[in-house]
Amino acid sequence: METLHVDLGDRSYPIYIGSGLLQQPELLTGHIRGQSAALVSNVTVGPLYADKVSNALKKLKTTEILLPDGEQYKTLEVLQNIFTGLLETRMDRTTTLIALGGGVVGDMTGFAAACYQRGVDFIQIPTTLLAMVDSSVGGKTGVNHPLGKNMIGAFYQPQCVIIDTDTLDTLDDKQLSAGIAEVIKYGIILDADFFSWLEDNMDRLLARDKDALAYAIKRSCEIKADVVAADEKEKGQRALLNLGHTFGHAIETASGYGNWLHGEAVGAGIVLAAEMAQRLGWIDTTDVERMRQLIRQASLPLKPPAEMTTEQFIDLMAVDKKVIDGRLRLVLPKRIGKAVVTSEFPVEALRETLASALA
Ligand code: NAD
Ligand code: GLY
Repeated sequence: METLHVDLGDRSYPIYIGSGLLQQPELLTGHIRGQSAALVSNVTVGPLYADKVSNALKKLKTTEILLPDGEQYKTLEVLQNIFTGLLETRMDRTTTLIALGGGVVGDMTGFAAACYQRGVDFIQIPTTLLAMVDSSVGGKTGVNHPLGKNMIGAFYQPQCVIIDTDTLDTLDDKQLSAGIAEVIKYGIILDADFFSWLEDNMDRLLARDKDALAYAIKRSCEIKADVVAADEKEKGQRALLNLGHTFGHAIETASGYGNWLHGEAVGAGIVLAAEMAQRLGWIDTTDVERMRQLIRQASLPLKPPAEMTTEQFIDLMAVDKKVIDGRLRLVLPKRIGKAVVTSEFPVEALRETLASALA
């Protein structure tokens, strides 16, 4: 087992990564401070793994809350199911919520924990690659609004993150690729060597080689933990983690939540960000081609949905948490291993980039 740390003073926490961790109850119970716990999962992941987690909770008062499965259920309305489950079983403010699932379950459970009785503990047990390398770490929690992705939420850190890599065995290939989009992101924004490693090892990742997956998860979590420790509330550097996301969120909102996977939208969004940087003359064509090639190799889409229009993109991109005083900011790569967050670009370049990708 590898243990990493997210250093946030008195809110610091460990990330445990390894095989068979759901069979180690003390990892979980060691981070539960009260006498009760609520396991929150969904109707797909619950039947696969909830028993293993419940086994570890035998000595506590527990309840299990299963949400419907899908990005379209990441709403305030469905969040209410968590609060109802907690209130019906009289869970008090010493209870711990345990999120077992992908990013949707993790983001919703974290937000419920931030709100329930003004804040209770929570633990992340991510079961998708995307949640292991990104959403379970760093404390961004929340739900979607019909007008914008992840627009309602809170920064709220877990007590720990338990990544049992064996849970990936039941994840389908499309979801695995979606997670790889976020892994590629780390290489582009901050670590050229990791990007090269991904170029050399993409086939092993897609073939689910355990060592390759474990390394990719560890390196991604290390990078994310460092960024979050330096800028928890996204006043600066943390925005780099949104490479491809402003474009990607527009794709997700336009196509109806759940139709494009988040990771797929991020993959196409990274290509758009690279093409925009290329249009501005900020990046070598060779680097853009390497990014395109790696995203293609990961079986991710290179282009946004053809039915979207440039104006629709621009409208949806205006509803982004990086917009300040009406000015859109984008994360754009300068080379592999370096990206910037900037509003210093002519909006015409954005229009041309989108028009060309949609042509
Ligand atoms: P998801 O949670 O919808 O999971 C994808 C699918 O895989 C679901 O159908 C789920 O039931 C299923 N699944 C999960 N684990 C499984 C397993 N082990 N075996 C079989 N099936 C399994 O999607 P996701 O890609 O994990 O997360 C996407 C969400 O994460 C989006 O809402 C996105 O906004 C959010 N996100 C948040 C952050 C953050 O920092 N908080 C970062 C990135 C993404
Ligand atoms: N996934 C982006 C962030 O955590 O900041």
